Amino acid sequence: MISGVENLNGIVEQHRIVVCVGSGGVGKTTISAVVALHAALEGKKVLVLTIDPAKRLANSLGVDALDNEARQIPLEAFTAAGLEPKGELWAMMLDMKRSFDHLVDRYAPDEETRRKIYDNSLYQYFSTSMAGTQEYAAMERLFELYEEGDYDLIVLDTPPTAHALDFLDAPNRMADAVERSALQWIYKPSLATRKLGFGLFNMGTSYVLKTIARFTGSEMLDELKTFLLNFSHMFEGFRSRADKVRKILASEVSAFLVVTSPDPMTVDEARFMQARLLDESIPFGGFIVNRVHKPYLAREALQTPAAELAQQLAVCLGRDPNDGQMEDLGQALIQNALDFQTLADLDAQTLRGLRERTGNRTLIRHVPYFSRDIHSFEGLNQVRQELFGQ
Ligand SMILES: Nc1ncnc2c1ncn2[C@@H]1O[C@H](COP(=O)(O)OP(=O)(O)OP(=O)(O)O)[C@@H](O)[C@H]1O
Ligand SMILES: [Mg+2]
Repeated sequence: MISGVENLNGIVEQHRIVVCVGSGGVGKTTISAVVALHAALEGKKVLVLTIDPAKRLANSLGVDALDNEARQIPLEAFTAAGLEPKGELWAMMLDMKRSFDHLVDRYAPDEETRRKIYDNSLYQYFSTSMAGTQEYAAMERLFELYEEGDYDLIVLDTPPTAHALDFLDAPNRMADAVERSALQWIYKPSLATRKLGFGLFNMGTSYVLKTIARFTGSEMLDELKTFLLNFSHMFEGFRSRADKVRKILASEVSAFLVVTSPDPMTVDEARFMQARLLDESIPFGGFIVNRVHKPYLAREALQTPAAELAQQLAVCLGRDPNDGQMEDLGQALIQNALDFQTLADLDAQTLRGLRERTGNRTLIRHVPYFSRDIHSFEGLNQVRQELFGQ
């Protein structure tokens, strides 16, 4: 727990960077947007920096598209939802390829190196498929934006990686991978090519390997050599910025929120992430348990006999109360409510377990499972009311 901060409001109020981490699909992008929306309503100039390949966030925020540039969410989006922001809400979506170009533009030592990197036929594969590229691009961008100091708060949404906290190591891992391969190329060319296939690229990016296979052996090695040698000029920059980003993330300006679903396995992963954050002296802010099933009917209501419910339904729907279909419908509704209640009980049990294991001082907030996806500004605001109203 971050000292002196007892609630989510405090976390948003007292930090300059809030990072949402969590397993795949738990709601990181949604919660990032909600946290940013809240901060904007409270008077901050806030940027949500997202990596949402599905591009759903642009819809939710009421803008046509998001790209590598920050865009301000128009006032109309707020007023249409009955909201009056005291601050400003900005959003940016990282495009991997363009982030990498940006990096080359900024850090290549001279025009010639820059041109050689861009002209290299392997560049586009490196810039989109190298292990850790996406995470690295996010870290780079975060660092740059933080240093520029245009925003009171930056909310960082993290990518859906297999290991959710890998992005913390991404800059170093990527620099290591490139450096190792480049050195091996110089000293042991055959080993270097073998390593490239299995070490530098993510498994599963087989199109990269297929493309490489289209070159003849010597052409490919030439391209690779040129690329790695030119790219190696940027290593120093990679490392020093990686260290700086880490320092910022581990400092009191940052807070990490671990987003999870109420599924017991996902909660275990979330606790593992909390432990790793604490291990690495990175400030853990709290858990957001998203998509919690809430009991929506009192137990007594579930005792209503199907026949009685059928009568009530028939009246509501203006149908014949003796219609046999009405009783089937009543029966199905009762069963559905009972199933939902079972899920709600299980979720409540998991939440109690989490509370017991983490102690009273740990911030835990939950968001109900809404009957629809959160794809509109109103939807985000509904989540906000649940999250910050507690
Ligand atoms: N509380 C909720 N109730 C209903 N739907 C939700 C809720 N929270 C999120 N969703 C929906 O679940 C889907 C996944 O959410 P989101 O994209 O935020 O997850 P994510 O963790 O960012 O996923 P990824 O790991 O793929 O980046 C979205 O369609 C979103 O609208
Ligand atoms: Mg996401």
